[in-house]
Amino acid sequence: MGAGVAGLRAAVELAGHGQVLVVTKEAVAESNTHYAQGGIAVAMEGDKDIALHLKDTLSAGDGLVYQKAAEVLVAEGPQRVHELMEWGARFDREEGRLLRTREGAHSLPRILHANGDATGAEISRSLAAFARAHRGIAFAEWTTVTALVTEGGGVIGADLLDREGRRSRVSARAVLVAAGGAGQVYSDTTNPEVATGDGIALAAQAGAVLADMEFYQFHPTALSLAGAPRFLLSEALRGEGAYLRNDRGERFMERYHPLLELAPRDVVARAITREGMGAHPGESRVVHLDMRHVKGVDLRQRFPGISAVLDRYGLALDRDLIPVRPAAHYLMGGVRTDLDGRTTVRGLYAAGEAACTGVHGANRLASNSLLEGLVFGARAAKAILADGLSAAAAGQAPAVGGALSASEEQRLEATIQRLQQGMWTFAGLLREEATLQEGQCVQAECAAQVVELRSHAGASRRLVEAEALCVVARSILEAALARTESRGAHFRNDFPERDDARFRKHSVWTSDGRVTFESW
Ligand code: SIN
Repeated sequence: MGAGVAGLRAAVELAGHGQVLVVTKEAVAESNTHYAQGGIAVAMEGDKDIALHLKDTLSAGDGLVYQKAAEVLVAEGPQRVHELMEWGARFDREEGRLLRTREGAHSLPRILHANGDATGAEISRSLAAFARAHRGIAFAEWTTVTALVTEGGGVIGADLLDREGRRSRVSARAVLVAAGGAGQVYSDTTNPEVATGDGIALAAQAGAVLADMEFYQFHPTALSLAGAPRFLLSEALRGEGAYLRNDRGERFMERYHPLLELAPRDVVARAITREGMGAHPGESRVVHLDMRHVKGVDLRQRFPGISAVLDRYGLALDRDLIPVRPAAHYLMGGVRTDLDGRTTVRGLYAAGEAACTGVHGANRLASNSLLEGLVFGARAAKAILADGLSAAAAGQAPAVGGALSASEEQRLEATIQRLQQGMWTFAGLLREEATLQEGQCVQAECAAQVVELRSHAGASRRLVEAEALCVVARSILEAALARTESRGAHFRNDFPERDDARFRKHSVWTSDGRVTFESW
């Protein structure tokens, strides 16, 4: 389930061992992977380089990285990236040597990039082309997974709905959830519309536990223009020297962190939020990214995709101050897995952003996510093969239900928007008990409306997405309320300190709303 880097990498590993079906809600290219700009962090220079990558990953994660997962990531990463290049991925080079950039909280430039600022698109293109050449892999594009089929506590298949409204049920020895994150749970997000957390919610409904759901990473710099989408302005811009300035034109990061604009992402995002707050509630002040002083880099050539989007709004990196604000970007939490993608449910595996191995702790190091998809996608596939499960007959697809009327569809959209707005307002960058409880009220009302609409219609893509967003929102709110400390991306105004004695632990959420804390 999912055709981003984790799903495709797993499919390639599995091909030749059986029939692989890659199910994706839109075309293969439409994934969080495709939109990743900055690059892929990888230590290609041997053991010392790997040790430094580990150190940076641990320190960005604010005390909560599961060290064994991070060790796997940095140690297996170089091999996975070499392999990807052999399969056709082209990273930017100068005179044959790979170019590397730097991003926040990295102690040196180690981030490979492609076509300037289109790294995810190149990885997606090359992996998809390689996967399509395998006869053992079939693709079901524009197809929604509406439910996981369970029997005796294990997953044995999935129900599918294609865009013509045809329903089918597939039996599977194993189902891998690699359907990415859930940025659409917030009104302001860099994620595409497909990122609604369906895989995470379906896994939870099938009995899998979720972990670390309170840790949503807000990217510091999304484009902030009225009427424009929250387009990502890569951290690599700051890696190439961009400053952040408040509405008085001051560089303000020195008040927040010694690494200034290259501080960890959570620190920069909160600093921008604070600088952007006016003197009165609801008032906002604009924060800008400034590259006008950067010399010796052709910014249009280095950042062609970003420059093309800015052109549409009459802005240029070398000429203008670019208005920015944080937006929901990456979920550190997800379906709890071991280091090999196994969830707590037999037959169900997860990898990539949908999964939580603990590799990112409370705050992901920039550009570690594409590497995560490659490394843990491959490992999950190997585990599926090693576990040797056999397929059970999954039976027939459920009878077709009715469709929502036009006015019901409008109500559904309004409900989704209310949930997104509520999550942004009450469970965003700065949280406290009272706001999180208000968020719970909004979530409960929205969830009840979705249940009511669902009661007189069969599963449609939008209903599945709405249900998923409600589950994801609920788990974020409940985990955020339970973690009465501040750590990484989770900041509580009412508990502003990190509390290692009680909370140097991962939160574990079950669909009955229980949150417990565990040491891994
Ligand atoms: C970026 O280019 O800033 C995004 C990369 C990432 O999310 O790690």
